Amino acid sequence: MFKIGNLRIRNPVFLAPMIDVTDLAYRQLCRKYVGMAYTEMIYISAILHENPKTKKLMMTNSNDKPIGLQVTGNNAEEFKELAKMNLKDYDLIDINCGCPSLRITGNEAGSYLLKNPGKIKEMIEILDNKIVTAKIRLGFKKNNVMKIAKEIEKAGTSALTVHARLANQGSSVKADWKWIKKVKREVGIPVIGNGDIKSGEDVDKMLDICDGAMVARAAIGNPLIFREIQRYLKTGKENKITKEEKLNEFKKYLELAKDYDVADINWIKRLGVEFLKGFKGAAKLREGFMLLKTYREIKDFVGKI
Ligand SMILES: Cc1cc2nc3c(=O)[nH]c(=O)nc-3n(C[C@H](O)[C@H](O)[C@H](O)COP(=O)(O)O)c2cc1C
Repeated sequence: MFKIGNLRIRNPVFLAPMIDVTDLAYRQLCRKYVGMAYTEMIYISAILHENPKTKKLMMTNSNDKPIGLQVTGNNAEEFKELAKMNLKDYDLIDINCGCPSLRITGNEAGSYLLKNPGKIKEMIEILDNKIVTAKIRLGFKKNNVMKIAKEIEKAGTSALTVHARLANQGSSVKADWKWIKKVKREVGIPVIGNGDIKSGEDVDKMLDICDGAMVARAAIGNPLIFREIQRYLKTGKENKITKEEKLNEFKKYLELAKDYDVADINWIKRLGVEFLKGFKGAAKLREGFMLLKTYREIKDFVGKI
């Protein structure tokens, strides 16, 4: 167990923020087995405009705990407006300092902030009545990351998630965990390691290096990975997740997504194909699945698999 600010983290396994994946319904599937989860990255400007789509991305409830609201932006005025909002449903605010997308870095946000930790400090100071954390990459040159981490710590962040790739590296480049270890040695705040975790064994290795382990891609369409990670941490063994179990999770997702009204049909289909991977004739199944037009059709389709 460790603490982020005054928030107790009872389980060091984290579900990563992921655009078009980690909505409230999806997080509910993972909740039993994860210590922390986040909304996907949301533009602060969109939060301030309170448009309906953004409200869905921000949706949370009392079962969705602890929860981080992940934001992106770099405009101090917008941060000031955000600080005035009632954000008591969220346990912390995580500032995205790692997104490499040009749409984000072009606005001097995401990984661009790693060039200017002073800006991160300014934003954390504005949000001084909240617990603030940051999710970073290794920066633009690896041997800079310890300096960046130290500066972000000094800026007042309560924890640091380190995705062990450079700002300009794609996901095919292997994450380099030794830099997570170096960051951990450098700072006093909790460090959560991220990049290429695919199993309980990987989590176990990550927890030898730092305080928490964050899983992203390996959890897409596969929320039960967290059950198996927990099994591994307790017993040193993990079971294979069957395709029937995955399908069952998708059925649960469909019900939750409908109850909360968090996802539109295209979103459900995009996520659905991830759950259907591994079935016999998966390509054909996927083709048929992608042609579906309504929630009812999707429900009937999965009912027949
Ligand atoms: C589909 C997708 C969406 C993502 N969206 C976000 C996001 O909203 N915020 C963020 O900080 N990182 C985002 N990421 C990056 C992941 O959180 C994570 O840092 C990265 O995938 C490395 O972890 P992994 O090797 O376990 O996938 C996203 C990644 C994927 C694959």
